[in-house]
Amino acid sequence: MAAISKNVDQAIQFLQNGEVIAIPTETVYGLAGNAFDAAAVSQIFTIKNRPSFNPLITHTDDLQKVAHYVQNIPKSARKLAETFWPGPLTLLLNKTKAIPDIVTAGSDQVAVRIPRHPVTLQLLGSLDFPLAAPSANPFGYVSPTRAEHVEEQLGNKIPFILDGGPCEIGIESTIVGFENEKTVVYRLGGISLEELVEVTGQEDLVVKNQNKDHSPQAPGMLSSHYAPGKKVIIGDLDDLIIRYHPEKIALISFKDYYPQIPQQRQFILSSSGNLQEAAQRLFVALREMDKLSVNFILAELVPDYGLGRAINDRLLRASVK
Ligand code: TXA
Ligand code: MG
Repeated sequence: MAAISKNVDQAIQFLQNGEVIAIPTETVYGLAGNAFDAAAVSQIFTIKNRPSFNPLITHTDDLQKVAHYVQNIPKSARKLAETFWPGPLTLLLNKTKAIPDIVTAGSDQVAVRIPRHPVTLQLLGSLDFPLAAPSANPFGYVSPTRAEHVEEQLGNKIPFILDGGPCEIGIESTIVGFENEKTVVYRLGGISLEELVEVTGQEDLVVKNQNKDHSPQAPGMLSSHYAPGKKVIIGDLDDLIIRYHPEKIALISFKDYYPQIPQQRQFILSSSGNLQEAAQRLFVALREMDKLSVNFILAELVPDYGLGRAINDRLLRASVK
């Protein structure tokens, strides 16, 4: 069993010894190891049961440190970094040899992020290497947003979980790359398209957020990602409730209560219709409904703007089987 602890010094010890531990971020918990140490990174892939072609994000606390392991930071990237870091944004940049190929699955580009969780910023500030960290869930399952989620699934495989409480954002970072000075979004996440458009001034922002099993080049976002064990069906909840009757079903709704269904089998993401709150609770909802003895989880999409786009993306991925 992993120790769940708030002790940052202990976390530093484990990481300096080449061990892999779970760390909190403002998006989701990460499964972290020394990104400069191929052996530590290899353990991450093993613990997560992650295919080796799916690269990892590196995390650090300071833009100056990033400069040591990327070739250059293009102007457009720097502007985004300065605006959104620390925060839920990941940038794809050309790597130097300091980053072992295993981290990037052989790609010349490395994914970089400065997260804004205070505990993890303190941790990263004490390390002289960045942390490679995918979300701390077994490959293909929903990302963890609480220390207990990590404990439930990976507790027997890692020695330590740094407890930073529930994640503030609740869904993963937005991944952005650059093609001929154009900003390309590879994964929708905690920074919205609207925010990116505002800062880049690029109204026609390219979104290559794949919802299918495409090449990992477009970054490894396999459709089975974020899926709970139960089958998730997306649609109009009133219709679905009628269609699936008398099956045992659970509901995930945006803001409304459905009196047709027992209360303990429904999860309202945000009764006030707040997208931030809905994002924060989405993965908790999927996990809790997955634990019930039901045959199907019925869910509805949320309004498709701001964080709503990333929420809908995760709901759709959860529903692909
Ligand atoms: O919010 C987050 O981004 C969280 C926290 C822990 O930082 N991390 C996270 O990592 O979601 P992960 O590994 O679950 O998802 C990272 C995604 C993967 O789909 C991967 O394919 C893509 O980023 N990625 C990583 N490095 C890449 C690279 N060099 N080129 C293209 N895609 C990359
Ligand atoms: Mg993940």
